[in-house]
Amino acid sequence: MSEYEALIAAAKKARENAHAKFSNFLVGAALRTKSGKIYGGCNVENATYGLTICAERVAIFKAISEGEREFDAIAVATDTDALTPPCGACRQLIWEFCGDVPVILSNLAGKFETMRMSALFPKPFDASNL
Ligand code: THU
Repeated sequence: MSEYEALIAAAKKARENAHAKFSNFLVGAALRTKSGKIYGGCNVENATYGLTICAERVAIFKAISEGEREFDAIAVATDTDALTPPCGACRQLIWEFCGDVPVILSNLAGKFETMRMSALFPKPFDASNL
């Protein structure tokens, strides 16, 4: 049993709300605050394609807009055999808002893998570069 079981379950649950009628690629994410609260997010697509927002960023913006600032893990869930890592844009924002947190990649079959942000995003640009 993983210490991230509840977080993975929340990512799977959020995926059920994915609005992905252009790609048909449904993604869920779940972000955990240091106090243990979980914010879910799903990808939301639209007819312009380019204004699509990924599940991870939806979860982050939901949490930030509720006043949360301290996070300790994020999970991503898809229905693929090869686990889905966050895209480049999401890696930038996960890094800036969450730092070197574990990222739990998971699928509906129960497979999961944990990677730290420092491995996924080894040479970031952030506020320390300004
Ligand atoms: N997507 C996410 O929501 N998160 C990821 O980690 C990878 C990609 C979405 C964006 C788009 O709606 C669909 O998956 C296909 O790229």
